[in-house]
Amino acid sequence: MLPSSFPEPDLFSPGTGEPALRWGVLAPGRIAGAFVGAMHRNTTQRVTAVASRSLERAELFAREHGADTAYGSYEELVADPSIDVVYVASPQSEHLKLGLLAINAGKHVLIEKPMATTAADAQLLVDAAASAGTLLMEAMWSRYLPQASVITTLIADGVLGDLRAVHADFGQAKAGNPEHRLFRKELGGGALLDLGIYPVQLASMVLGAPRTITAVGAIGETGVDLYSTLVLGYDGPAQSTLSTSLLARTPSVAAIMGTEARIELGSPFHVPTTLVLADNEFLGPTLTWADPTGLALLEGLSWEATALATFVGEGRTESPLHNLDETVSVLATLDEALRQIAA
Ligand SMILES: NC(=O)c1ccc[n+]([C@@H]2O[C@H](COP(=O)([O-])OP(=O)(O)OC[C@H]3O[C@@H](n4cnc5c(N)ncnc54)[C@H](OP(=O)(O)O)[C@@H]3O)[C@@H](O)[C@H]2O)c1
Repeated sequence: MLPSSFPEPDLFSPGTGEPALRWGVLAPGRIAGAFVGAMHRNTTQRVTAVASRSLERAELFAREHGADTAYGSYEELVADPSIDVVYVASPQSEHLKLGLLAINAGKHVLIEKPMATTAADAQLLVDAAASAGTLLMEAMWSRYLPQASVITTLIADGVLGDLRAVHADFGQAKAGNPEHRLFRKELGGGALLDLGIYPVQLASMVLGAPRTITAVGAIGETGVDLYSTLVLGYDGPAQSTLSTSLLARTPSVAAIMGTEARIELGSPFHVPTTLVLADNEFLGPTLTWADPTGLALLEGLSWEATALATFVGEGRTESPLHNLDETVSVLATLDEALRQIAA
């Protein structure tokens, strides 16, 4: 029996007591522009400084986004005492180095996904942040979207019954641009680290860390993984089936199945989307939820900014919705999948 309505999402609404932090951006590329734009339009958080390997690029970004200061080196920005939190938006190959730079300067740090290219490297960041006493968070923005709160409440309320399966895929057709960082091994390219992390983190959110990992896929000419399917097993009778690809735009949908009901996430499932709740009848009734906040697509990046400020205000050093152990555990799953695909 389905409930008559969805639970209200627990929102990270701006202006509800979170500190207005002064943010510094390292590596102002494509996602940095999208994140800062969304943050400025939708939150009380402000970027006050930006650093690029090129002063000219930093100045351009600063002008575009209204930041006070532009630096021509990352070191200068982390030495700026007015900065509260550093956002690392470089390719994944640089996340460890730039994350450590910011942590060792005593800053709170938000690092784009994946936090590092291996679980061992992510653990180095976690250990450094623990020593420094600063907050460290992976920019796994899906976790801070309104729909994530609705999903976790439905699960906690037992609406799905006992959890049995997660299906999720995320694939994009990127082969037309072989120079892209996604195909460059030295920049931490590959489907799993960039796209596959979204299905894997969803399975982790719902079912926890897997007990068994089976991966089938292919490595391309440049040495990065091009596509794969992972089957994850758990202690109980549950399984996740997760796919990713750099060669095709896949449906990019997800579903969470339990003994009583399932939730289907619309495409692409990792951004603000719709949820369909269905009972376990073969053609039973369904209930549809649409994000009521009006923050569509990349505007949804702003939720993680207010979430981080909220956590800082609460004196936390990690996200309670996606803690550091889980960040490392998801990377450990990707490590093992990559090992099997390359074997
Ligand atoms: N949350 C999301 O939805 C989302 C979406 C896309 C990407 N991402 C993540 O965001 C990160 C950046 O992705 P992007 O697509 O924004 O990349 P991008 O456009 O290539 O920008 C990355 C920036 O990093 C800097 N950089 C530092 N070292 C570099 C190096 N060795 N090679 C190239 N650039 C270097 C460059 O800026 P300067 O030289 O000016 O400093 C460059 O503009 C990745 O970790 C990716 O996984 C997240």
